[in-house]
This record gives sequence, C-alpha cells and structure tokens, in this order.
Amino acid sequence: MGQHVTDKSCECVAAAREQVEEVAFASRNVFENEPDGRLAERRARLADPGFENARIVSAGSEATETLINMTRQLAVVRGQGTRWTVPSPNPSYHGTSLGAVAVTGAPDSEAICPPVRRIMPKALRSLSYRVPEYVTDSYADHGANVLEQLTLDEGKESIPSLILEPVGGLATGGLVGTAGFYKALRDICDRNGFPLYVRRADA
Ligand SMILES: Cc1ncc(COP(=O)(O)O)c(C=O)c1O
Repeated sequence: MGQHVTDKSCECVAAAREQVEEVAFASRNVFENEPDGRLAERRARLADPGFENARIVSAGSEATETLINMTRQLAVVRGQGTRWTVPSPNPSYHGTSLGAVAVTGAPDSEAICPPVRRIMPKALRSLSYRVPEYVTDSYADHGANVLEQLTLDEGKESIPSLILEPVGGLATGGLVGTAGFYKALRDICDRNGFPLYVRRADA
C-alpha cells in the first residue's frame, strides 16, 4: 500500500517528523516503527477475508519492488530458485524505479532500461476501448492465449508470479478487462503453479 503526502501543512507531516525522530535504526531490510505496525494491522482488519497481512510502503513504485522481492523470496523458500521472470500484461504501468520499469508494459521506458535492468516479458491485457482488429471478448481471449504461450516459451519453472494491474492507472486511464480475462489469468497461474499478484493504485 502506498501513501502520498502532498499537503505540507497537514498533520501527516508533523506525525511523520515525530515518528522519524523515534526511529533508532534502519537498514535496507529492517525498518519498522510502532505506528507503522498498528496501521498495517488496522488496514488488514478492514480488508476483505484473505487479506490478513498488510505492509506499508512509501509509494506505488516501492509497492512493486516489494512485490517482486516477496515473489522471489517465496519461490526460493519453496525450493523454486529458478523462478525469477515476472511477466505482466501490456500496456501497464507499475512505477519509475528500476524493478517497476522492468514489469511496466510501455515501449518507451523499456527502450532506456535494458543496460541496467532486464526487461520482463509482456503478455497482452484485455482492452475495453481501442481494441485492435478484434472485439472486446475475442481480444481478451487473445490476451490470455498470449500469456499461455509466454508461459510455455519462458518455461513455467522460471516464473515466480504474474503481476496484474486490474484497473488501468497511468498507462491506460481506468481501463478494465473482461471478467473472462481475469478468470483466464487466474487459471493460467493456478495451472502453472505460480501466484497472481493483483496491484491496485489508489489516487
Ligand atoms: C498501478 C500503478 N503502480 C505503480 C504506480 C507508481 O506509483 P508511484 O508514483 O507512487 O511510485 C502507479 C502510479 O500511477 C500506478 O498506477
């Protein structure tokens, strides 16, 4: 979950300053404070069943990085260390940090990234407008087939998870896919033994 603070006079800034002053130690892997833990617990309590844990992050890009890291860690502890290719549907937007650009489906950002980061393979997302050469449902089927093929090409044993932005953000302005598309993606993930991570950005 990411939270932006844009109003410098708001009480969030004062609370953040107060909390920062109380943090005794922070390293790249270990950082928490007591209000952060309380907020995560409260967020998880308010969420639907199945969301029993929450982790608070600074922004959407960090949420994506965290997701990729968790995905990889989960694969490793399950003895699936060969899984490190994280596909996502194209077009999509997952943020500006290097890991987030790698899973973002946007040719312009993909073009500048490769020297420092491997771009992850992209499938196609279901479109509800500007559907090229198909109608909505057949394009959704096509998108699911592209993912199925990608899974075969990459090898399912190399994929720790699929990252999906269910409602389009920056890349696709409020775009939603068909119900059949989301179900097809779920089925592909289940059949091939990797989790589907659904990311949601709240503006
Ligand atoms: C789905 C999604 N992921 C990640 C981001 C990046 O978020 P941030 O700019 O907070 O890093 C956005 C921003 O629009 C987004 O829509």
